[in-house]
Amino acid sequence: MNDQKPSASRGAFVSKTGFILAAAGSAVGLGNIWRFPYMTGMNGGGAFVLVYIIAVALLGIPLLLVEFTIGRHGKVNAIDCYRKINEKTKFIGYIGFFSAPLFLAYYSVTSGWTIFYTIKSFTGLTSIPAEGIADFFFSFVANPWKPLIFHFIFTALTVYIIARGIQGGIEKYSKILMPILFGFLIVLMVRSLTLPGAAKGIAWFLKPDFSKITPGVIVAASGQIFFSLSVGMSGMLTYASYLKGDENLLQTAGIVTFFDTLVALMAGLVIFPAVFTYGLEPAAGPSLIFMTLPTVFGSMPLGSFFAFVFFALLIVANLTSSISILEMPVAYLIEKKGMTRPKAAILVGAIGFGLGCVVSLGYGAWSFLSINDMTVLDIFDYIGSNIVLPFCALASAIVCGWVWNKGAFQEISNNGLINLQAGKVWLALVRYVVPVLMFLVFLGQVGVISLG
Ligand code: TRP
Repeated sequence: MNDQKPSASRGAFVSKTGFILAAAGSAVGLGNIWRFPYMTGMNGGGAFVLVYIIAVALLGIPLLLVEFTIGRHGKVNAIDCYRKINEKTKFIGYIGFFSAPLFLAYYSVTSGWTIFYTIKSFTGLTSIPAEGIADFFFSFVANPWKPLIFHFIFTALTVYIIARGIQGGIEKYSKILMPILFGFLIVLMVRSLTLPGAAKGIAWFLKPDFSKITPGVIVAASGQIFFSLSVGMSGMLTYASYLKGDENLLQTAGIVTFFDTLVALMAGLVIFPAVFTYGLEPAAGPSLIFMTLPTVFGSMPLGSFFAFVFFALLIVANLTSSISILEMPVAYLIEKKGMTRPKAAILVGAIGFGLGCVVSLGYGAWSFLSINDMTVLDIFDYIGSNIVLPFCALASAIVCGWVWNKGAFQEISNNGLINLQAGKVWLALVRYVVPVLMFLVFLGQVGVISLG
């Protein structure tokens, strides 16, 4: 149990801060800066934000802790971590394993757009007039080969980092780069909040219109939580499997969730004042930040410089997330299939790249693949975030709370040494509150699908 040390060959996080940074790095990424604003935009603004914040406390933190405890207890790849609790529960790990390439696919396509914007910030991105930015964006994503190149570059970077092992590079760089990204968000927020349409944007973003809280909004908010906190695919579980055993998991989950939510809210306060100032459509979908941010930068002194640094930092934030997607299946392939780290990383990366090509072409040459206005990206994301992640998260809560139960309490309390009361509250949430809420989310899901 707790005194079991990870085997030397597996590697481990050297420090407590190292793990917090890696987990926060996994959480903070496109989910906060790209997906949260566009989901808010498509789901009625303040109503979505309110549901999101309540659900972060009731679902997000407890489920993140489920992954942390199961991972640290098992100290092995995700599938075997579940197996250690009960042979029958390993399917949760397998679903994570097989869905990893799907997440990697559209995550790197979108990150590829970020790379393109980084390069373009030198050459006129910020001087495109607000009316022209949609054309600019859509003609780029519809190009048959350009977005594929950037998708390839991003996937290759992810594979490279994972092939080398996590500790060497990314842990070191995130320590410096993530705080800088945070600083830039503050600067951007100040700029946006002083735009002429800011008041309208803020009201739309933060003032809930209760009539807009529909089953669809609740399903979307829960999907957003899982995506944003990297919960459900056993990515966080895999990271926690590299822990030694005496960390305060509750505290770590609290810190990670706090920053993840803060960054998302800050991103909303950057985007929506601009949306309302420049008369853009809040429900634009995945293209939203790519159509608002250039205009916000364009309205600032030294705009191209700021745009460059911001998008470059976003690439880093995305890398610290995409590596956590890739590490999950790679850990399994190394431990169970005897593959070398580079080989496993290249294999999964290649599958993700292939799937990503379909996602990317779905915006141009293969747009016939869309269903009911949903592009391939929307479809992948819907299956991933609204079906796979909630299903696995619910299953993990049932396994943790009902099958493992006392063992889970021992693990989270470090064998009865810390957080006894909080641990009990957590276990009660995992046993009762999470399953009931998730069941309601699934009912809503069925409603959303059958009502279209
Ligand atoms: N949480 C990351 C973000 O917000 C994305 C991410 C990392 C993820 N690991 C994941 C999403 C696992 C789903 C599953 O950008």
